[in-house]
Amino acid sequence: MEAVAVAAALGFLLLTAAGGSAGDEAREAAAVRELLARLLGPGPAAAFSVSVERALAAESGLDTYRLSGGGVGARVRVLGSTGVAAAAGLHRYLRDFCGCHVAWSGSQLRLPQPLPAVPEELTEATPNRYRYYQNVCTQSYSFVWWDWARWEQEIDWMALNGINLALAWSGQEAIWQRVYLALGLTQTEIDEYFTGPAFLAWGRMGNLHTWSGPLPPSWHLKQLYLQHRILDRMRSFGMIPVLPAFAGHVPKALTRVFPQINITQMGSWGHFNCSYSCSFLLAPEDPLFPIVGSLFLRELTKEFGTDHIYGADTFNEMKPPSSEPSYLAAATATVYQAMIAVDPDAVWLLQGWLFQHQPEFWGPAQVGAVLGAVPRGRLLVLDLFAESQPVYVRTASFQGQPFIWCMLHNFGGNHGLFGALESVNRGPTAARLFPNSTMVGTGMAPEGIGQNEVVYALMAELGWRKDPVADLGAWVAGFAARRYGVSHGTAEAAWRLLLRSVYNCSGEGCSGHNRSPLVRRPSLQMATAVWYNRSDVLEAWRLLLAATPTLATSPAFCYDLVDVTRQAVQELVSLYYEEARTAYLNTELVPLMRAGGVLAYELLPALDKVLASDSHFLLGSWLERARVAAVSETEARFYEQNSRYQLTLWGPEGNILDYANKQLAGLVADYYAPRWRLFMETLVESLVRGIPFQQHQFDKNAFQLEQTFVLSTRRYPSQPQGDTVDLAKKLFLKYYPRWVAGAL
Ligand SMILES: *[C@@H]1O[C@H](CO)[C@@H](O)[C@H](O)[C@H]1NC(C)=O
Ligand SMILES: *[C@@H]1O[C@H](CO)[C@@H](O)[C@H](O)[C@H]1NC(C)=O
Ligand SMILES: *[C@@H]1O[C@H](CO)[C@@H](O)[C@H](O)[C@H]1NC(C)=O
Ligand SMILES: *[C@@H]1O[C@H](CO)[C@@H](O)[C@H](O)[C@H]1NC(C)=O
Ligand SMILES: *[C@@H]1O[C@H](CO)[C@@H](O)[C@H](O)[C@H]1NC(C)=O
Repeated sequence: MEAVAVAAALGFLLLTAAGGSAGDEAREAAAVRELLARLLGPGPAAAFSVSVERALAAESGLDTYRLSGGGVGARVRVLGSTGVAAAAGLHRYLRDFCGCHVAWSGSQLRLPQPLPAVPEELTEATPNRYRYYQNVCTQSYSFVWWDWARWEQEIDWMALNGINLALAWSGQEAIWQRVYLALGLTQTEIDEYFTGPAFLAWGRMGNLHTWSGPLPPSWHLKQLYLQHRILDRMRSFGMIPVLPAFAGHVPKALTRVFPQINITQMGSWGHFNCSYSCSFLLAPEDPLFPIVGSLFLRELTKEFGTDHIYGADTFNEMKPPSSEPSYLAAATATVYQAMIAVDPDAVWLLQGWLFQHQPEFWGPAQVGAVLGAVPRGRLLVLDLFAESQPVYVRTASFQGQPFIWCMLHNFGGNHGLFGALESVNRGPTAARLFPNSTMVGTGMAPEGIGQNEVVYALMAELGWRKDPVADLGAWVAGFAARRYGVSHGTAEAAWRLLLRSVYNCSGEGCSGHNRSPLVRRPSLQMATAVWYNRSDVLEAWRLLLAATPTLATSPAFCYDLVDVTRQAVQELVSLYYEEARTAYLNTELVPLMRAGGVLAYELLPALDKVLASDSHFLLGSWLERARVAAVSETEARFYEQNSRYQLTLWGPEGNILDYANKQLAGLVADYYAPRWRLFMETLVESLVRGIPFQQHQFDKNAFQLEQTFVLSTRRYPSQPQGDTVDLAKKLFLKYYPRWVAGAL
């Protein structure tokens, strides 16, 4: 690949950067001022002056901010080359000068008075064109039931973290419905095609259809409304919203209207049968392909306008019908052609997940066919899981196509302390220094948010750094101090233990997918190994509790105390499970009853109580969000069931059982705990009656329990109950001494 071509490819993307009229600058500055007032209140916000000037970015065109002023009687001046840059500069000031912390689990915004002076004008430019956010799945695992108020918070969080490129995929089914109706499908056929709200991400990627639908008419209206507000707000900051485009998946009913079309049925996905998966792909050479693609994009951009970057995933976790490079090239080129037919400036954003998910299929010829089918600079690839399995290294930097180094980190929105901070810290710099690198950005692509904030804080910071953080230990201590609003040696020591254990994941068994026995259907073969020293977690727990007299008034501290207690219980569950299993295999009834009894009747109920004490860990709030998204009681039940399915069975028969597991109060008490009680009772009965344990039979019985939970309409509190510190301490005093004595 030639350096000139690379420069040309990247140059094109830079040209698509935000335009520079004075009106845009004023609008972006106003958006940041409004953000500031939401964040700090109008009074404190008045102590800042915010402006936007494109010229600040100089020739590089890279987002830049400049801080100055502050101190007695002087306003803090924040200047950004875009609204996003100004918001990032503001965040930098709040973080590094005021010791504040903006977080999902509770922000800490106590401002020093007067506002600290910026001693010397501070100018910072990002090293990359883009900071990207989201995964197609985040829309389902985290955003599905959000109202505008929650979206507004998130877009503020994005701006403060300097995100300038993000998916905006709400409301696309409403547009598809118009297109399909125009093509002659009936409403019934369309209703049979879409998945339910909680599974739209996989409908959009062609993995699923039909399952848990249909979408009610009110859904479409509400999503259209939301999408308009989301787009307005993103654009007001100068962010680039990425809209969806046609990837080739169509409803089977299209063949009723057009019997001659050439469609290929794909294989099944995710243990779903063909009633819900095995979707249909329109052949690239079929004349209808560009028609459907253009109809959709024209209708979409007529409704929403465009910023010229579009996402589409034809083969995400789907084995293509042919591995012939000519086929793959045609399938790719057709998607792109349909885009530029409507928008000549279109750039295609592709999730690079497929290349690393099925590496046995995607050999050099196959990868090359896809990458080469779109003009250089017009395919923007997300190297989605780069902190673990970077694809750029084995594709010569995506053969000259620009790419974004993304941290994926989380699967299914699982709780569970986890992170590969060392590898995240080094990754972006290494990718930038790679020979002939075409990296144009950094990104965060978690399947679910609202967990392990430390990882996201680091990644967001790296979007504005040229070099890795030199001392992660010191960095994490600073993180804790800002989070709790005070530097506290004991709490910082806890964080250093977490850093060297759960947050220093590398090698085998290191995964952002929680596989703890606690959240899995029990069997005699469960894996319990972890990549870290469990005692570090228990020690961190001890240290956090020791810090409670000073820190218990901090909401983020209480959140962390719940989270680390939760993790400690997760460790204990693994150990009691091992004891119970050993006892069973040695046919020792009393030790089996003891270990099983502690796990199922003491630990899990106690965990449920701790979780119930914090508003972030409530099944009640989770389901309430789904219910209030509805316009009738029937719809509320339907949404609630969608939500319960996603959390547990993930399909009518437990097709992807417990993939999106969470540890929420209510879910532990009424789902995980009953399953564990059933397991332990089955083992005891097996020993008592001398009949072998039958996994197959147990699975059937467990499924009954799981399904009962999903179909239940029981209501749960959406307000926290109980005192976190008391509850955590009680658990600690009971189990920590046993742990240390090695006598669980
Ligand atoms: C990088 O590009 C240069 C100039 O085209 C080329 O000579 C060199 O082989 C490339 N390096 C690698 C590692 O691909
Ligand atoms: C798929 O599974 C569902 C139950 O989960 C069943 O009702 C349906 O008949 C199955 N369809 C096929 C094609 O096997
Ligand atoms: C249908 O499409 C496939 C895949 O592109 C192609 O191989 C096949 O020749 C097409 N069949 C017809 C009848 O055009
Ligand atoms: C993380 O583990 C690696 C070895 O795998 C080690 O070199 C490094 O120092 C550890 N980092 C921390 C912060 O403990
Ligand atoms: C495991 O962690 C504990 C508590 O931090 C520590 O005392 C112990 O030395 C660690 N063990 C190993 C093998 O590193």
